[in-house]
Amino acid sequence: MWRPDRAQTWPLCVNLRLQTGRLGSSVTQVSPPPVSLDPSVPPVRRTPRLGESSAGANRRVRRREPSARGRLRGARLLRWKESTKTDFRVVVLSDTHLSASHPFFFHNFDVVREATEALAPDVVVVTGDLAFNGPDAPEDLDFAASQLERLGAPFVRVVPGNHDVGYSPAATAEEQLMTSARRQAYLERFGPDFWAFDHGGWRFVGVNPFLFESGLEAEAEQRAMTAEALAHDGPIGVFTHVPFFLNRPDEDDAATTATVAPGPRTDYLALFRDADVRFVASGHLHRDKRLIADGVAHIWAPSTAFMFSGRDDLGGAPLVGFLELRFSGDRFSATTHEPLDLLSIDLRNWLKGDEDRYFRIAEQPFRRP
Ligand SMILES: [Fe+2]
Ligand SMILES: [Fe+2]
Repeated sequence: MWRPDRAQTWPLCVNLRLQTGRLGSSVTQVSPPPVSLDPSVPPVRRTPRLGESSAGANRRVRRREPSARGRLRGARLLRWKESTKTDFRVVVLSDTHLSASHPFFFHNFDVVREATEALAPDVVVVTGDLAFNGPDAPEDLDFAASQLERLGAPFVRVVPGNHDVGYSPAATAEEQLMTSARRQAYLERFGPDFWAFDHGGWRFVGVNPFLFESGLEAEAEQRAMTAEALAHDGPIGVFTHVPFFLNRPDEDDAATTATVAPGPRTDYLALFRDADVRFVASGHLHRDKRLIADGVAHIWAPSTAFMFSGRDDLGGAPLVGFLELRFSGDRFSATTHEPLDLLSIDLRNWLKGDEDRYFRIAEQPFRRP
């Protein structure tokens, strides 16, 4: 969810298949991840191979119920066996907006979960807004974490959305700002909110955009980690919830919650330009969009839950689905998947009238037959 800001009139860039990188470049030595790893983690589960019957590989995964506390058990968040495999796939899920008490979007998540399982990616990254009303309903965070357990992926990393931790305390949004307590509730369930890991010569970096200008101690820690991680000798991909800009890095939108604020935007984009960052993948706006600025691909992942039509000024396409990133050496491509069983839920009405609609609906009982 986000709040409308001023109209933008830049051209659309929809469903462009990206191919970047230098063909034939050698894969660089994978260096240790700059985040500390938790040694007390259980073994990872096997993911079914593409085309494999789920009966064998996934019987144990399918039978298992979500943990009562809904916490992601640390393995797939915190432990990662580095690999020199140079052909691999990353599935990007975003904006699942899950809740057991308000399960508007559970059907779509479950369809996407099955589609993800069939693709058998090496890594799944979730770019935020996992919960429906996480800042005020920790049980939604619990439920979202329990559903990530059901993905059956060998490695899952998560960055937070505003519906998980709230907006930066510096945001103009008057509702659901990130506090230390809200951030801590997220960390306890999903692990670090900023991180880096290496795979196949690539380095992947996740950042929490709500730490920007937050004044929290972790703001400086995140920037230091990012700067350190970007010193990688090889291609880099960045994941975050909020896009750094809508259409141009220098656009004037200081008051919007749709993008990163101009100050940290300028700072981080300069870091990216000075490094070998090939793409920045984000969620938040519930649109499928690609654009390239300063040689970096900015990829908006669609929501698995719902879209907003009627905001064509944002560019891209309103659709429900998820992304698959395929890597081969230092090249990559991005493909949008729209499983046929998804319900194309359109919340365009939520953008009309007053901005309390989300809170009213979140506080009402779910309408059941
Ligand atoms: Fe969202
Ligand atoms: Fe969001």
